[in-house]
Amino acid sequence: MEGLLTVRWDDGRVVMIDQTRLPGSLEFVEYSDHLQVADAIRGLVVRGAPAIGVAGALGLALAARNSTAATREALLDDIESARRILHGTRPTAVNLAWGLGRVADAARAAQDPASMREAAEAEAKRIADEDVRINRAMGRHGASLIGDGETVMTHCNAGALATVAYGTALGVIRAAREDGKKNRVVATETRPVQQGSRLTAFELQHDGFDVSLIPDTAVGYSMASGMVQKAVVGADRVLRTGHVFNKIGTYQVAVMAARHNIPFYVAAPLSTIDLESGVDDVVIEMRGAGEVTGTGGSRTAPEGIGVVNPAFDMTPPELVSGIITERGVARAPYEESLPALFGVIPS
Ligand code: MRU
Repeated sequence: MEGLLTVRWDDGRVVMIDQTRLPGSLEFVEYSDHLQVADAIRGLVVRGAPAIGVAGALGLALAARNSTAATREALLDDIESARRILHGTRPTAVNLAWGLGRVADAARAAQDPASMREAAEAEAKRIADEDVRINRAMGRHGASLIGDGETVMTHCNAGALATVAYGTALGVIRAAREDGKKNRVVATETRPVQQGSRLTAFELQHDGFDVSLIPDTAVGYSMASGMVQKAVVGADRVLRTGHVFNKIGTYQVAVMAARHNIPFYVAAPLSTIDLESGVDDVVIEMRGAGEVTGTGGSRTAPEGIGVVNPAFDMTPPELVSGIITERGVARAPYEESLPALFGVIPS
């Protein structure tokens, strides 16, 4: 996976790995229209906060390119309606709004339709290029937290497949290996969509890591039995206060880690940090019942059963040992350390 790009721009098309087909087959899909990109984000063809931020940005560049608007104002209207559609696809990860905002701002700063289209495309490509550099920088900061020979637990997929390449949490594990450390990884399967077994296990095995898969229900056992020395996860949104929104089940991993004195780290780029929102502003995406009532195409729950299927949960700051970013590792109190990474002086 390390060499493959999860999402990229190719001459007026957005090309992605179709993650709904993994691990069975590695297939690429191409889109030439922002509505197709929106469907892909909604349908988890591309997923993971940084990757959907990039996909949204590239999708908005497609909308600008395809618009037939002849005036600056008409093109701004078309860009705004495409931005709303793309933004409406998934509510929790803040990277989507961030990527769309950057592209829309770039277009707005240009004076005529031709230069607006150019600016939108250039900014979207810049966001995609930056992603890999940012992940590598994050990896460097995080690698120093991982000891040689340690076993690291991760949850969901925060790897190359959740970004353009290299990954956030898995980027830290990759960087530790580049330092010559020998680490084992324990990956949770991450029901109900199984990003852990379908994506993390696939990605790490593909790249030659020593990885073992556990059911989500074995997090406590693995920690209590001394199997795990560190936990590193990604994030979909981190608030100024250090509250971490990440894939459902992350909170359980953090609570268990605290119970067993295992450091619990979050790897997230600055594009995932939301200094504006409060806990109550964040919408937790509720997904369809079908993700829970069956697995592998066959039904495992009784017909007519009620289902609650939140895609994300919130881990409070007191359970987080550190937040690894491309600018360094933030430690509590996060209300001071996180704004400082942006050069914002806390008031
Ligand atoms: O619903 P998904 O698959 O888009 O989930 C988001 C994630 O991939 C995870 O929450 C991940 O751990 C953080 S994004 C690097």
